[in-house]
Amino acid sequence: MTDTAELKLDNGETYELPVITGSAGEKAVDVTSLRGSSKYITLDPGYGNTGSCLSAITFIDGEKGVLRYRGIPIETLAEKASFLETSYLLINGRLPNKTELENFQSEITIHTMLYEDVKSFYDGFPRDAHPMAILASVVCSLSAFYQDEEGSPEEVSYLNSIRLMAKLPTIAAWAYKKSVGHPFVYPNNSLSYCENFLYMMFGLPVEEYEIDPLLVEVLDTLLILHADHEQNCSTSTVRIVRSSMANMFACIASGICALWGSRHGGANQRVIEMLQRIREDGGGTKKFIEMAKDRESGFRLMGFGHRVYKNFDPRALIIKDKCAELLNKLKVSDPLLDIARELQEAALADDYFAERKLYPNVDFYSGIIYRAMGIPVNAFTVMFALGRLPGWIAHAKEYTEDPKNRIGRPRQIYTGPEQAEYVPIEDRG
Ligand code: SDX
Repeated sequence: MTDTAELKLDNGETYELPVITGSAGEKAVDVTSLRGSSKYITLDPGYGNTGSCLSAITFIDGEKGVLRYRGIPIETLAEKASFLETSYLLINGRLPNKTELENFQSEITIHTMLYEDVKSFYDGFPRDAHPMAILASVVCSLSAFYQDEEGSPEEVSYLNSIRLMAKLPTIAAWAYKKSVGHPFVYPNNSLSYCENFLYMMFGLPVEEYEIDPLLVEVLDTLLILHADHEQNCSTSTVRIVRSSMANMFACIASGICALWGSRHGGANQRVIEMLQRIREDGGGTKKFIEMAKDRESGFRLMGFGHRVYKNFDPRALIIKDKCAELLNKLKVSDPLLDIARELQEAALADDYFAERKLYPNVDFYSGIIYRAMGIPVNAFTVMFALGRLPGWIAHAKEYTEDPKNRIGRPRQIYTGPEQAEYVPIEDRG
């Protein structure tokens, strides 16, 4: 079998391009040399057919609904691993042994505090600031506190990655405290990663906060499920910002901004808002299914559809079960879960969604769990960011360590006027 592809151009010239095969057999035509030899570029708005890199971190088979981190199925990690163990796996390329995991955990634990000066930044934000705005701003501001570090660029990036892992839960919990006007709760380094986050979110100086192990377990699983997803919008953003040699805080802040949008991580907030809207409308899903099918309506079924998955998102399957389990154990019933289930059933039975292979994605059920945990709706995307952080770090690291890396710089096909005259302002109509 040939490992080249032939490209015949409109000028009659033919080019032979290498075909690259991934470890799971996926194929790519390597066009790296195309412009240099032919002056042609490839055009792929939205990058639906474009591989931006070779990566050994995460594998997705969207047709089969498969997701693996460093070769390990997501279902196995969700059942057996912890979030920090998964983070180590993503960042370092293999599972840690006991000592390595303990060292990783204690490295992260000693960096959980923020500079007291960072705390004062929160005073400048309005009470109703979106927590993603605070998260991105405070993360980027950390670059002002950690400058001129000693060591190789790899060592500096590693230390700053540890700082980010340690501090993001503190930054996120304080954004919530700001929104409810409560005093900030400092991290408690005797607690685990997820315990500490819940403690900083919901603890108060006036009373004991009892950390519910069930919530810790569910949160840990949710973070694992969100930890990486190969070249999604925010991760590609992190890689491209890193390609300019920007520092790790700037890179991660850019990832947070990209994640915020409603087509990406922001969808988890929109799902709950949509379910609430359906409930207020009487609970019937038919009208909303019809609206989602009508492009002109501007309404999308939030938490549905995916660029890569053309079958069930395996994370959605796990989250759906976790959601039912959590509500059951907490003995709470959420009418939004019933609406979500009905909406899913109605959509999957509808030709429009079947033909376009639109299934529930990771965001469809996660919000119901966050609600049950007491997390406010506008902080749902912050929860996604907490989970995605090790993935962003792993991709920034992989990019940095690639000896062939180059600045990310797509080309374009220009469609404006070829040349235009400068008309003096007094002569313009
Ligand atoms: C995440 O990429 C990742 O890996 C992301 C993520 C990660 O872990 O990083 O998995 C996390 O971002 C999940 C996605 C969260 N977003 C939403 O739930 C928002 C709702 N969904 C979409 O807007 C949409 O499905 C996207 C953004 C997720 C995917 O967009 P694509 O790949 O560009 O798909 P498309 O818009 O080209 O859709 C194909 C067709 C179109 O119809 P036609 O023009 O062919 O007639 O399906 C339709 C779309 O109009 N369609 C939908 C729909 N999603 C797609 N119709 C109604 N409701 C929807 N949700």
